[in-house]
Amino acid sequence: MNLMDLKNNIDIEKIKEAANAIKSGELVIFPTETVYGIGANGLDGNAVNNIFIAKGRKNDNPLILHISNIDMLDRIAKNINELEYKLMNRFWPGPFTIVLDKNESVPSVVTGNLNTVGVRMPANDIALKLIEYSNTPIAAPSANISGKPSGTNVADIIEELKDKVAYIIDGGDTKIGLESTVVRVIDNKIHILRPGFITKEDLEKIGEVVVDTHVLNKVTDDKEVLSPGVKYKHYAPNTKCILIYSKDNNSMINKMIEIEKQYDKSIVLTRNINLYKFKNAIPMGNTLEEISHNIFRLLREIDNYNADIIIIEGVENSGLGLAIMNRLLRATSYNYIYVEETC
Ligand code: TXA
Ligand code: MG
Repeated sequence: MNLMDLKNNIDIEKIKEAANAIKSGELVIFPTETVYGIGANGLDGNAVNNIFIAKGRKNDNPLILHISNIDMLDRIAKNINELEYKLMNRFWPGPFTIVLDKNESVPSVVTGNLNTVGVRMPANDIALKLIEYSNTPIAAPSANISGKPSGTNVADIIEELKDKVAYIIDGGDTKIGLESTVVRVIDNKIHILRPGFITKEDLEKIGEVVVDTHVLNKVTDDKEVLSPGVKYKHYAPNTKCILIYSKDNNSMINKMIEIEKQYDKSIVLTRNINLYKFKNAIPMGNTLEEISHNIFRLLREIDNYNADIIIIEGVENSGLGLAIMNRLLRATSYNYIYVEETC
């Protein structure tokens, strides 16, 4: 593996070198504005298959194709309607993935045999240049071993992936920290399959929005699943975790204190570090943007403490909070307490 440090300057020659690796069927880890991706030529079935092997990912979990300009779209998708174009025009480049009817040129390994394909144009100069010089859509899931939190910086993922790829491009910490919003338009309604930085409220400015039931609920029946990724265990630390939330901050803190008392060694992830002195607390950030930026790094660090329990404070379900709660529910395997307001 060759590590390229492009944190402070985007060296075009180096990006071209990595693009050549993509062209010849190798894997490259690269930054996007959401999380790092582990990429391959999206039109080369063998190369894409190596992504699944590197991650230990199930074959029915489809990948997103990343494009650098709208002209690439016709190579991979068809039957695009007005609402879909509107969404792409509004949110690209950006943390937004749209599921479209796939073209014959897209190998079935990319889409887990579905007849649709997820497409995204990332808002990151390294990613856009890499795609442009590769002259092909790049298939890229988040850079992490399947089940682990997505990589938001190179230090977090280098050990688990360094032997599996030709290049790692270090572009520093990713800006957003949570993966893109995934949507699919069905009967002229925008279905959110995975929430992200582009929120329900943002999408409502364009059309009618439906939040898929699996965004906040466990999958109980495989047949209902619109986005296969939601079936799998995700983001989970090895330590037992519990998620606590109440609209009333005092009720929430009281519940967290009650749980803390039941264990010898607990760690609390909280926004309220100044309001109450927990035995062992780690600040998760104050704003939803800060929390989204920090959360995957924190979930990775958490196992180092050898705690008996990790108590994680929930956030409100609106705006970016919906995406954060979606990831936290899955990280805690739906071990969740919602405390009704007591006053
Ligand atoms: O921000 C992101 O989206 C990052 C960066 C690297 O772009 N990528 C990412 O990829 O998070 P991944 O593979 O970890 O997650 C892709 C999600 C999965 O939940 C998958 O089920 C869904 O997108 N998806 C992809 N293609 C789909 C399709 N054709 N139909 C339904 N869901 C699809
Ligand atoms: Mg992922």
